[in-house]
Amino acid sequence: MKIAVAGKGGVGKTTVSGTVARALARSGHTVLALDGDLNPMLGVSLGVGGEQTELIVAARQAVAAGEEEHAPTIEEIVKRFGADAPDGVRMVIASRVEFMDPGCMCCGVNPVNLVRQLEHGERTVVCDLEAGIGTIERIETGVVDVLLVVANPTGKSLEVARRAIEIADGITEIVVVANRVAGDSDLELMREVLGDRELFVIPEDAVIAAADREGLAPIDLDPDSPGVAALVRLAERVAGAPVAA
Ligand SMILES: Nc1ncnc2c1ncn2[C@@H]1O[C@H](COP(=O)(O)OP(=O)(O)OP(=O)(O)O)[C@@H](O)[C@H]1O
Ligand SMILES: [Mg+2]
Repeated sequence: MKIAVAGKGGVGKTTVSGTVARALARSGHTVLALDGDLNPMLGVSLGVGGEQTELIVAARQAVAAGEEEHAPTIEEIVKRFGADAPDGVRMVIASRVEFMDPGCMCCGVNPVNLVRQLEHGERTVVCDLEAGIGTIERIETGVVDVLLVVANPTGKSLEVARRAIEIADGITEIVVVANRVAGDSDLELMREVLGDRELFVIPEDAVIAAADREGLAPIDLDPDSPGVAALVRLAERVAGAPVAA
């Protein structure tokens, strides 16, 4: 299964990607978590740690600078630009590099291309996309099975979500993730913009905010906090099977 996570900057894409990836791994999926952001932060939400992320970014930069061999196959990319996260998740940084060789898989690749090439079946791929709707425009039918469109109860993030849904509708299954909901008025605002589409609600959660401050994966800080528990249920909903918390 291939899952992509999109939305306006700062809405919680990385938090959702990292926590859903960990929850899926805990329920037995073999998970590959792709960080497609130019400023890769998925390692923190996955519990990999900043140091490992820096090492991978340095490895990609060395390739871009011509100091290292390119990685022409998917498996080499997974090996060389990846790190192991808890619960057996493999994280791979797949963001664009500055000086790319357009014909090369490892540097000319964009995350959507990479998701397209990763085979179904043995791996569950969770891809944290760049903010905005640019990457969604590149998703064609069959590239991802589910698109998680993350929004907050704010006018601008809802507008981005509305456009993302418009673009992806009919191309892939869409689950709208209403993140940082603090009350009924938040939900009403979101319904006003998004209509009667199903909203998967993740409450505002001090544990998620604290995890971010401490550089920890929310699921490691407290898997039972309301926001994290809701993200575990989201993983369950997406996978269509019960997820062990
Ligand atoms: N449900 C929540 N409750 C409280 N804080 C949250 C929640 N979801 C996300 N946050 C906080 O919001 C901030 C942004 O989250 P995150 O980095 O996941 O967003 P993003 O969409 O990936 O941002 P960017 O576009 O910069 O990559 C972080 O500080 C995170 O801890
Ligand atoms: Mg992010």
